Amino acid sequence: MKNKKFIKFIEFIGFIVLKNSTNSKNIINSINALCFLLSALCSLLFALPSEAKVTGVCSNCHTMHNSQGGQAMATYGADGQPWRGTGNPISFLLRGTCLGCHGMGTANKIVALEGNNIPQVYHTDPSGDLAAGNFAYIIGTKGNGASDRKGHNVIDLGNLDDFLTIPPGQYHDHGIRNTNLTCAGTRGCHGTRNSSSTKYNSLRGAHHGNVEGRLDNPTENYNSYRFLRNVKGLENPGVAKWQNNAPDSHNEYFGATTPLTSACGTCHISEWVPPGVSVMVAKPASGTMSNFCGTCHGNFYTLEGIGNDVSSPFVRHPTDVFLKGTKEYAGYVYYSVIAPVARTTVPAAASDIVQPGTDVIMCLSCHGAHATNFEHLMRWDYKGWPENGQTNGCNVCHTSKN
Ligand code: HEC
Ligand code: HEC
Ligand code: HEC
Ligand code: HEC
Ligand code: HEC
Ligand code: HEC
Repeated sequence: MKNKKFIKFIEFIGFIVLKNSTNSKNIINSINALCFLLSALCSLLFALPSEAKVTGVCSNCHTMHNSQGGQAMATYGADGQPWRGTGNPISFLLRGTCLGCHGMGTANKIVALEGNNIPQVYHTDPSGDLAAGNFAYIIGTKGNGASDRKGHNVIDLGNLDDFLTIPPGQYHDHGIRNTNLTCAGTRGCHGTRNSSSTKYNSLRGAHHGNVEGRLDNPTENYNSYRFLRNVKGLENPGVAKWQNNAPDSHNEYFGATTPLTSACGTCHISEWVPPGVSVMVAKPASGTMSNFCGTCHGNFYTLEGIGNDVSSPFVRHPTDVFLKGTKEYAGYVYYSVIAPVARTTVPAAASDIVQPGTDVIMCLSCHGAHATNFEHLMRWDYKGWPENGQTNGCNVCHTSKN
């Protein structure tokens, strides 16, 4: 049922309940009953994913012939940057490349386009970045100087990573290089990642089907967390969309401690695409954010895994393990947007409470996704501490290591 219908339904029930109440005691009972009904319905309502499809005039985003009055229309994107549409036609008749729409290069992290809001992953907004970070730190148009070590140098940026050629910690060579890493598809992160999916094709239908809210049953790109195939999570809806603003207003990431048994099956699932052809699609079997990062950085995800390397002393920093309720981690009880945790059940709404013994550490507890202002794509200045006088995110969990 759509949200609007739900609200109408609640209003109708409320009307009936109040209308039928004749004396004051009845009214109080009725109001109590109504409140109960409302809260029950609301929690159900918030638990359901809601529509976040692109809407509005087709010509805002598509161009039929890439020509109007003889002028090219496919020109979205930051001025002077390689991803600005050159005027050549783009797949799906789009008016911009992926970064063309998502990297307008303005001072806004969200750009309004006649009824649609486009989340920006390359911008100079002084008020902060969206949850995945900001590619501008790599190029240096924002932050304390350009550096290839600040993030994922997708080729679309036109700025190859001079230090890293393959994904550090890769489990097997799947041909992903600094020379071909891109937004989506075989050599990317978003969308369907089989060996023949192109950047655009891999996202077919995602924008026009997009849902947000609690995404606990990802079956397609449009109902996976941020179009990351098979990843679960809670997409923060409403005004805080795409943002991790405060302890009580943020996305929720999914984590799990379920042992994964088959080595190949940790990252691959056989799918029938198109009917009759079986291909191995790379997608995190457990649906956790860390497992997703592990599809390219497998060795850092302690592959064998969440089965073996689950106890101290660890050989690599663990992910998808509980914050112990008994040790120093027991002191981490108030959610930190500097070093967030993942939840073992996707919650219906963002919570500012951390539960050691239930919540887990993930890659994004320490790292950003696209790029950050810090070396190694860290969420805080790990190398500069303590001279920088800033928060050391390690202490958020290791509370006795100040
Ligand atoms: C705010 C931007 C936006 C608007 C407005 C928009 N589209 Fe799209 N559309 C996209 C993007 C981005 C893609 C390609 C990626 C994807 O499929 O997710 C796309 C893909 C498509 C596709 C191919 C994939 C699919 O879902 O079948 C069709 C067909 C399409 N659009 C038709 C339309 C029509 C018709 C309209 C107007 C009613 C429209 N679009 C309005 C952004 C937009
Ligand atoms: C014509 C403009 C346009 C183009 C081109 C485009 N997008 Fe988008 N994209 C949008 C808009 C508008 C939204 C916001 C939809 C919403 O309101 O949730 C969006 C949302 C997204 C999101 C966030 C989805 C979520 O769960 O909130 C991702 C990820 C994304 N796009 C990736 C891509 C990739 C990858 C490409 C290239 C294959 C691409 N986009 C091309 C307009 C575009
Ligand atoms: C599609 C494969 C792929 C996925 C998925 C992926 N990465 Fe990477 N990652 C790479 C490649 C390739 C490089 C090296 C090139 C570069 O840094 O630009 C890299 C580099 C890095 C670096 C080093 C950055 C630097 O320049 O020092 C970090 C940290 C990192 N990834 C973390 C993550 C995290 C966290 C996730 C999950 C949110 C993730 N990666 C998901 C491919 C991937
Ligand atoms: C750590 C994660 C991970 C594991 C484990 C893993 N793969 Fe992959 N594999 C990937 C990724 C990511 C790709 C790239 C996407 C693609 O091409 O499908 C890939 C690609 C492939 C491809 C396509 C190759 C190509 O060039 O397009 C095959 C075949 C494959 N893997 C087989 C296997 C087999 C067999 C195993 C078990 C021995 C395995 N993989 C284990 C992550 C993994
Ligand atoms: C989100 C919480 C979190 C953050 C942030 C975090 N850790 Fe950890 N760390 C853990 C957990 C949980 C363990 C596993 C402890 C266990 O199960 O005994 C761990 C384990 C370790 C271990 C291994 C301990 C052992 O017994 O083998 C070291 C060393 C460590 N962390 C250092 C760091 C450093 C350095 C940083 C900052 C770069 C950091 N951690 C950030 C949660 C965190
Ligand atoms: C406890 C914090 C923490 C967690 C959790 C964490 N990392 Fe890191 N990562 C770091 C730090 C700090 C560095 C910098 C190098 C170092 O000190 O080892 C780093 C470096 C990296 C690099 C660059 C390695 C290189 O050769 O330059 C990659 C890639 C990476 N991490 C990926 C991941 C992935 C994927 C995960 C989740 C499976 C993850 N990290 C989880 C803190 C963390």
